[in-house]
Amino acid sequence: MDMSYFKNRRTVRKYKNEAIPMDKVKSMLEDAMRAPTTGNMQLYSAIITTDNEIKQQLAPCHFNQPQLMQAPVVITFCADFNRFNKWCEYGNAVPGYDNFLSFMTATIDASIYAHQFNTIAELNGYGCCHLGTTNYNAPQIAKILHLPKFVVPIITLTLGIPDGESPQCERLPVEAVIHMETYHDYSTADIERLHKEKEELEINKKFVEENGKTHLAQVFTDVRYTKANNEYFSKVLHDFMVESGFKLPE
Ligand SMILES: Cc1cc2nc3c(=O)[nH]c(=O)nc-3n(C[C@H](O)[C@H](O)[C@H](O)COP(=O)(O)O)c2cc1C
Repeated sequence: MDMSYFKNRRTVRKYKNEAIPMDKVKSMLEDAMRAPTTGNMQLYSAIITTDNEIKQQLAPCHFNQPQLMQAPVVITFCADFNRFNKWCEYGNAVPGYDNFLSFMTATIDASIYAHQFNTIAELNGYGCCHLGTTNYNAPQIAKILHLPKFVVPIITLTLGIPDGESPQCERLPVEAVIHMETYHDYSTADIERLHKEKEELEINKKFVEENGKTHLAQVFTDVRYTKANNEYFSKVLHDFMVESGFKLPE
C-alpha cells in the first residue's frame, strides 16, 4: 500500500465550481462507517447540505469562512443519541444516555467518523476542510438543520474538487508528542527546542508581525483563541448540550 498520502495530506480551502455526484458522496459516507465506534453503537449522523439557501443560512454560523459557500458539499457531523435512544425504547430497554459521559461518547464517535470520511474523500482526490466553528454556534446550526433532542452538531466538513495546490503546514517534531511508557513533562528548554523550527518559519514570523505581537503563542492567546471567546462559547455549548438532553449529574 502506498502510504505517501499520509505524509502529503493537507487541508483544502479552495474548490472548483463543480458539483460532486451525490452517489459518490453517499458511498464515501458509507465506506467511512467502517470507522470504529463505542460498542458499535454508531452514535453519529451526517447532514449533507448542497442547497445554496441552506448554505447561506449556515455561513454566519461559521463566521462566513469563504470555503463554506464555495464548496459544492457541506457535511455537518453530529453526535447522535436520538436514534439509539429510540431503538432502546422500541426494544423495551431503558436508555441511560442523558448525561455528560454519553455526550462525550457520541462526540468521539462523530469526530472519528468525520475524519474517516475526510481521509476517504482525500484518497478519492477531493479536498476537505474541517470547520471547528460548529462548536461555537451549535444552537443556531441545530435550528437550521432541524436537529432533534440528543443530536448535537460537532464538526462540519466542506468538500470539493481542489482548485490549485494548497500549501502544507508545518508540524512539531515527533518527539514533541511521544512519551515513552509514562508522561515526561516538558522543561523550558524542551519547549524552546520543540517549537524553534515552527517559530522560525517565515510565514509564522509574518503572522506575529502582522498582529503586532512579540511571540507566535500570543497570536493564539490574544487573537485567534482568546480567553473571553473561549469562556463565552463554552457557556453557549454547555447550555446547548444540556438543552439537547445531556445533563450534568446533580
Ligand atoms: C477540529 C478542527 C477544526 C478546524 N476548524 C477550522 C476552521 O474553522 N477553519 C479552517 O479554515 N480550518 C479549520 N481546521 C483546519 C486546521 O486549520 C488545519 O488542520 C491545521 O491548520 C493544519 O493544517 P493541515 O490540515 O493542512 O495540515 C480545523 C481542523 C480541525 C481538526
